[in-house]
Amino acid sequence: MAPKIIALGSGKGGVGKTTVALNIGFAIASLNKNVLVVDTDVSLPNLDLYTGLEKPIITLLEVLNGTADIQSAIYTIQMGLHILPCGSSLQALRDVNIDKLGDVIAEFKNSEFDFIILDVPAGLSRFSILPMTYSDEVLLIVNPDPASISDAQKVKAVSALAGINVTGIIVNKYIKSIYEDVGVKLGLPVFGVIPQDDAIVKARDTKKPLILLKPKSPSTKAILQIARRMCGIPEKKSIFERFLR
Ligand SMILES: Nc1ncnc2c1ncn2[C@@H]1O[C@H](COP(=O)(O)OP(=O)(O)O)[C@@H](O)[C@H]1O
Ligand SMILES: [Mg+2]
Repeated sequence: MAPKIIALGSGKGGVGKTTVALNIGFAIASLNKNVLVVDTDVSLPNLDLYTGLEKPIITLLEVLNGTADIQSAIYTIQMGLHILPCGSSLQALRDVNIDKLGDVIAEFKNSEFDFIILDVPAGLSRFSILPMTYSDEVLLIVNPDPASISDAQKVKAVSALAGINVTGIIVNKYIKSIYEDVGVKLGLPVFGVIPQDDAIVKARDTKKPLILLKPKSPSTKAILQIARRMCGIPEKKSIFERFLR
């Protein structure tokens, strides 16, 4: 079966796309699925930093420029989790042909991956919108603050003009606030809510998978729930909820 391609986009930068993409990747792998996380942010990539790969030489940039094949740009992080990072060579960036991204993604059609998660650049440029056009599902990462919500609204509108159907949002860095109804404000279903959590910062700084480093943290629970939902695994009900049923 062809992999399901899920793009994670946003209006504002710094909302947590790369963090969520990688940690959902770890979570999906823990559910015995095979997942590839792709950094499509050719101008400001940082998936490599978060994984500890640190400046890989062969990356998506080299694949797009035709100087490397895809297989040599894929790095296996652990069983079930693979990364296609993007390099930061300024010369490669100058020569980049982003239109080839569609061909690169099409090559995964018959691959062994169950899921491909695209970490999409923030904003409204062609570089942001293009990766979304190659996805089966587009989820916007939104923080519960007015600027992030307003920018997401714009991405939703521009995506619609491009014929892209944004399927939902993931609210990240959630703190109990007056912006609780982010989904209502954006008119989009809420696929998951990840709290603001120091555990995420610890995982980032130690370059360890959040779900292993802090398995009981609120953010781990939220990310595992999102991953289960993506894999179509029924929600775990608490004993209390089961009793009520
Ligand atoms: N739920 C969270 N709680 C705490 N910090 C977070 C959370 N999500 C992301 N961060 C932090 O926010 C910063 C920006 O995240 P990042 O994933 O790089 O955003 P983006 O890819 O959207 O630019 C990082 O320092 C990251 O560790
Ligand atoms: Mg990022």
